[in-house]
Formats: sequence, C-alpha cells, structure tokens
Amino acid sequence: MLDFISALPKAELHLHLEGSVELPTLRELSSEVPGDIYSFTDFQGFLRSYGTVCLLLRTPGDYALVTRRLLERLQEQNVRYVEVNLSVGVMLWKNQDAAAMFGAVSQAAAASPVPVRWIFDAVRQFGVEAAERVAELAVASTGRGVVAFGIGGDEVRGPARCFRDVFDFARSRGLKLVPHAGETDGPASIWAALEIGADRIGHGFRAIEDPVLLSHLRDHNIPLEICITSNVRTGAVPSLKDHPVRRLFDAGVPLILSTDDPAMFGATLNGEYRLAAEVFGFSRADLELTARRAFEYGFDSTPPSGP
Ligand code: HPA
Ligand code: ZN
Repeated sequence: MLDFISALPKAELHLHLEGSVELPTLRELSSEVPGDIYSFTDFQGFLRSYGTVCLLLRTPGDYALVTRRLLERLQEQNVRYVEVNLSVGVMLWKNQDAAAMFGAVSQAAAASPVPVRWIFDAVRQFGVEAAERVAELAVASTGRGVVAFGIGGDEVRGPARCFRDVFDFARSRGLKLVPHAGETDGPASIWAALEIGADRIGHGFRAIEDPVLLSHLRDHNIPLEICITSNVRTGAVPSLKDHPVRRLFDAGVPLILSTDDPAMFGATLNGEYRLAAEVFGFSRADLELTARRAFEYGFDSTPPSGP
C-alpha cells in the first residue's frame, strides 16, 4: 500500500508555506526558536505557534529558503501540482513588504519541477480592512500564479458574512475563493462561506453535522479540503477515529486530502493517504479516485496522463 501511495501522482491543495517549515530550518533562520514551538495542544495554541513561526520569517531570502525546502519534500512524494497558501495577512500585520516576499517565493518556485500556484490568505480576526489589502495584492499578482484568495485564522472571531464585499471584489477580478470554514465552528459557518461564494472549503469536515449541507456540497460539486492530522493535532476532532472523512466520502461529498501545515503537525501527503487507507478503509480504487479528483479541483492543474 505504501508503495502504491508513493507512486500515485498527487495534487496538494491545502498547504500553508509558513506551516511547512521544519524545526531544523527554523533553527537555521533564528537562534531563538522555542524548543516547544510545535507542542501546542489546542487550536488557539496552534494559532500562537503559527504566529511565532511567521515572525521568524524575516527576509525575502528566508521565504525563498522555506519555499525550496517545501518543494523538495513535495517532489519526493510525487506531488505534481500544488496550491500554496501564503499568509499575506500576517506579512502585512508584520509590516513586511509582501510584494518583495512574494517575488522571492515565486522565483524559488520557478526553479522547481513542481508546478506551483498561490493562494493569498487573509486572517479572519484581523478584520475586513486588512483582508481588503490582501485581496488587492492578490489581484495585482494574478499574472504571476496567484489563483485564489482565502480567509483563515479564527472563524468564530471573524464571521464570513463580514467578508462578502472583499470576496465580491476578488471574484470580479478573476480570483477563486477558498475560505477555511467548518473547522472549529459548525455547519452555519460553512453555509456562510458558501453564501459569499466559496469555490472550495478549507476543512469543512463539520458539514457532517448537517445532511442538507452534505447534499448541497455533493450536488454543487464543492469540495472539502480534508486535513486529518491537522484536525487531530489542533483538537478540532476529539480523536483520530472520530474523524468523519469516511462518512463524508460515503455521502458522496467531493473531498481532497491535504496536509495544511505539514511541519507543524508532523504530516505528509503520503501519510494522509495512508491514514485514509489504514484507519478509514479507503481502497486503492478510492485513493486513486481521490488523487485524480484533486487535480480536477485545482484551479489551474492538468491531470497527469501517466504514472
Ligand atoms: N486554520 C486556520 N488558520 C490557519 C490554518 C488552518 O488550517 N492553517 C494556518 N492558519
Ligand atoms: Zn489551513
């Protein structure tokens, strides 16, 4: 099974660059890395650690380095297409030159054989005006591989309805919309994300609590980006066996397996496929279908023709 999973051509659609920085790389960047930086036990702890990592990324060279390392890891796993979330909302909060940082990461990506597209992510709890600035930067970079605009962070403290105008603006300029929703809040948060135009949902596993929502996602072909290890590590699900991935799949909801913040959670994309197989009983055919569909749900991907 492991060889089968490794050999599958895969697309990764929910991954944050800032969450992909492994501890040794963090230590190359700074001598002040807290030893327990990745030892959070709940979602708020995770958000604090994520913020700390972001603060350790200071220069365009730092961003280029972590991009190169990430793409090496993805290439090793036979990832043939990736959409990387960039926390532009956090860059602006840090008063960084986001355009310079994006220049560095896109240059690093151009040197990799893995095709890379970008999602500029705003932080819900930083508010609407901050999100508008992120959307404007995303729009200004559509010619350079930016395909979507997203909102992440705390969905309870930053409800989706506040971002309607920002989403309208981004969509009108050709961007796709990928809010995180239904991770720490329930189905109402997913409905709100759909109402403002979500093309895919980051996480969204709590759709399992609402049969009407499950049918809606299935009938409108709106995929959930499922990140099993992430949900366990942030405590969004009580335990691994409680994760509803299998029930979502059986309900015909389109889903994509992803890692979210691989270094922070100790996740790999091959590992997520392995969990689907070993814990949730996905057959080889299920995994093959899931992997192939991920390319279809990419905003600018070409499904691979051969192995
Ligand atoms: N959810 C919310 N905020 C985040 C995430 C996530 O999965 N990853 C990075 N920031
Ligand atoms: Zn995420």
